[in-house]
Amino acid sequence: MNAMNSEGYTTADGRKIGGVMMEMKNITLRFGGVKAITDISFDIREGEIRAIIGPNGAGKSSMLNVISGFYVPQEGEVWFHGQRRAPMKPYEVAQQGIARTFQNIALFEGMSVLDNIMTGRLTLMKTGLFQQAMWWGRAQKEETAHREKVEKVIDFLEIQDIRKTPVGRLPYGLKKRVELARALAAEPKLLLLDEPMAGMNVEEKEDMCRFILDVNDEFGTTIALIEHDMGVVMDLSDRVVVMDYGKKIGDGTPDEVRNNQDVINAYLGVAHD
Ligand SMILES: Nc1ncnc2c1ncn2[C@@H]1O[C@H](COP(=O)(O)OP(=O)(O)O)[C@@H](O)[C@H]1O
Ligand SMILES: [Mg+2]
Repeated sequence: MNAMNSEGYTTADGRKIGGVMMEMKNITLRFGGVKAITDISFDIREGEIRAIIGPNGAGKSSMLNVISGFYVPQEGEVWFHGQRRAPMKPYEVAQQGIARTFQNIALFEGMSVLDNIMTGRLTLMKTGLFQQAMWWGRAQKEETAHREKVEKVIDFLEIQDIRKTPVGRLPYGLKKRVELARALAAEPKLLLLDEPMAGMNVEEKEDMCRFILDVNDEFGTTIALIEHDMGVVMDLSDRVVVMDYGKKIGDGTPDEVRNNQDVINAYLGVAHD
C-alpha cells in the first residue's frame, strides 16, 4: 500500500481506502476480575477490510462486541464518524449502519431462509404493528420494498434455490451464508464478521472469501472480521490487528504482521484449531 494519511491510502490491488470511520482509543474491558482487553487502540478506515487475529481467548470476540456497541468498555473511547460514541441500544446500532454475524450461528432454525433474512430489515422498518392495522396500504408498500431488497441479497449470495427451505435443514456452510445475507439485508456501512469461515471445508471457505470481497467491492462496505485461517487473512485483508492475552501485539498490512517477531512468537509459530 502507499503512504497512509488522513485522507486514506491505496491498496496493493488499487482500491481506494478512505479516512477513519471508527477509532478505538485505549480500550480496556473487564469481566469481573478477567481483563479481556487491555489498553488497545486502532482504527478502521472507510472501505477497508480489517482483520482481527490472535489465539483463542485473545479477546477478539470481545473487541468485536465493543465495536458493535454490545459491550461498553470500562476504559477508553470509541469514536465513530468523528464523534465520540455514547452507549447505544441494539436498534441504534443498526440505524448507525452496523451489522454483524456471530461466532456461533444465531438464526431461527424453524423459519425459512427468506424469513430469516427479512429479520435483518426489522430495525429499518418504519411501520409498527398498530400502524400496519391502520394503514394497510402503506404497510403493504413498505413490505414490498423490503422484500425487493431481500431478493437482491438472495441473488447476490446465490441462494435462490434455498429461499423457502427452513434454516435448520441446511448444511453448516449455507447457514453461515444465510447469516451473512441477514446482515447484508440491513444494508450496513460497517459489517462485522466473527469467524465467518470457521468450521467450513475448503470449497465453502473459497465461496465465503469471494462473497466477502464482492460485498466490499460492490457496495463499498467496510468490513472488520475475525479469522483463524492465516491464508484467508492474507488474501482478504488490507490491514490486520493482532491480539494476544487481551493486548495488541501487532498492527499493519498482512506482510508487516507476518514478519513481526512478536506475532510469530505468539501466534504464527504454533498450530491452531
Ligand atoms: N461474557 C463474558 N463473561 C466473562 N468472561 C468473558 C466473557 N466473554 C469473554 N470472556 C473472557 O474474555 C477473554 C477473551 O474472550 P474472547 O473475546 O471470546 O476471545 P477470542 O474471541 O479471542 O477467543 C477470555 O478469557 C474469556 O473467557
Ligand atoms: Mg471469539
